[in-house]
Amino acid sequence: MADTIDPIRMTLLDQIASSDTPRDILRAPELKDITAVIPTLPPEERADFGKKLNLLRGQLAEAIERRELELENAHRPAPIDVTAPWDTNAGPASLLPTEHGTTHPLMQEVGIVSSIFERMGFAIEDSREIDDQYHMFDALNFPKGHPARDDYDTFQTAEVDSDGDPLVAPAHTSTMQNRILKKYRINLGVGEPIAAVVPDRVFRNEDLDATHEHTFYQVEGVYVARGVTVGNLIATLSAFLGEYYGKEVEVRTNPFYFPFTEPSFELSMKNPFSDKEDDWIELVGCGMIHPNVLRAADIDPNEYTGFAWGLGIDRLVMMKYGIEDVRHFESARLDFLRQF
Ligand code: DAH
Repeated sequence: MADTIDPIRMTLLDQIASSDTPRDILRAPELKDITAVIPTLPPEERADFGKKLNLLRGQLAEAIERRELELENAHRPAPIDVTAPWDTNAGPASLLPTEHGTTHPLMQEVGIVSSIFERMGFAIEDSREIDDQYHMFDALNFPKGHPARDDYDTFQTAEVDSDGDPLVAPAHTSTMQNRILKKYRINLGVGEPIAAVVPDRVFRNEDLDATHEHTFYQVEGVYVARGVTVGNLIATLSAFLGEYYGKEVEVRTNPFYFPFTEPSFELSMKNPFSDKEDDWIELVGCGMIHPNVLRAADIDPNEYTGFAWGLGIDRLVMMKYGIEDVRHFESARLDFLRQF
């Protein structure tokens, strides 16, 4: 009698494996029939047959659980990663081959900009993503309540610092000037200049359009030594721009106002890729570091002078590649990014 169990096992396991309601198979007539056989067996065979039947029930229960889990997984929607650069609905995601990833175009250019300044003798420093009002304004000769503070459309946090002022998302890389002057002022004592650049991200509460983003990049430059002049400033920036664009560039300055420089300028460059006579682009805010800014870092302005600049990296890169809209950079549009 026992050998009637094997074919039933095969049939029922097969049915379970393809059933949408596998638990119903416990009510299969074959099972009932075979259970009903027990009392009809000679007593010495019953125990053995009962054991085999129990084994079968156990195997069926296991198969049912397995099948139910399988069904449950099949009906659960695949988790959707909205940041994934492929269509997760098209099938199970697997790891992307590494050759698909590239450095963001702005980061590539930040690397190029940094290496040029490094070769010119400047140290490279990082900025921060959150800072205080002292470094954003006070150390840069913006008195409290000065209207020029409003020009910077600065994002503020709800938290306040020990002075009771909100923290800020740096709206320019100039927040690093005071730290750089303090960090490197020992150079001056040994006859070396202070020379550092800060290529990093800044944030402004801007109305967005093709030339304005809330998040963009600047490279700040600071140079202090004895006898530094505006001539040194212009020569440094022209040398950088010439190296970056790989051709000699024409620059000009217009007088401007920044609280932290005196005199202050806006430096423009003639578009090196245009034939038009009057195609000038403002690229850099710059000037001679204001004596109060040097004093805030305990540097004697009667002994030392210096220049500083803040250059918009996005604009620099847009001109290099003929990019017409600054918003492409932060858009995560793959058709844009893949061109670099
Ligand atoms: N921080 C200024 C801005 O974002 C740019 C700037 C101007 C930086 C003059 C400087 C400077 O270091 O000397 O508008």
